[in-house]
Amino acid sequence: MYEISCRHQNEGINDQPQALPGKKELNRLSMLVLTLLLIAVSSARGQDAAIPPAGSPDAGALVFKKCMACHQIGPNAQNGIAPVLNGVVGRPAGQYPNYSYSSANKNSGLVWDERTLSAYLRAPAKIVPGTKMIFSGLKRDQEISDVIAYLKQFAADGKRSVR
Ligand code: HEC
Repeated sequence: MYEISCRHQNEGINDQPQALPGKKELNRLSMLVLTLLLIAVSSARGQDAAIPPAGSPDAGALVFKKCMACHQIGPNAQNGIAPVLNGVVGRPAGQYPNYSYSSANKNSGLVWDERTLSAYLRAPAKIVPGTKMIFSGLKRDQEISDVIAYLKQFAADGKRSVR
């Protein structure tokens, strides 16, 4: 009798490790919660970073009227006070042929992508101190996105892509 009960006690002790799977499940659950939290935090950060509004090329054509005092664009565009803007999106600053850029622009090291253009069009002299572009800047995110969408349509040869 004694031996039997002793064995029972041992079995009882051996039972204890069976509690582990439960702990493992708890761990998995807390990992899942942690992962979900991380995803939530990182996507919240994404929303914080200013996501520019989608641009409309047609609205951008109207915004471009503000630029036309100095700039031309399209198949017959000529340099004047300011350089032709054909194909400017994606091009390094200061590259349109036969225009006499300021050294500030030419040596800026900038490539005109959506990010650099947005900053430049908002405050040209802040992004390129000493630029010849004396323009107070566009104020609204929407008009900046729109005019960039408009500029994007023109290839380097001035041809406008069909939408
Ligand atoms: C008052 C005249 C004037 C107005 C208005 C003006 N710009 Fe300019 N822009 C210039 C001049 C001058 C330069 C050459 C800058 C330099 O060399 O420093 C220039 C340069 C640029 C460049 C850089 C081109 C390159 O090849 O590096 C972009 C892009 C540009 N302008 C876009 C615009 C847009 C878009 C508008 C309208 C929202 C606008 N500009 C309005 C005069 C103007």
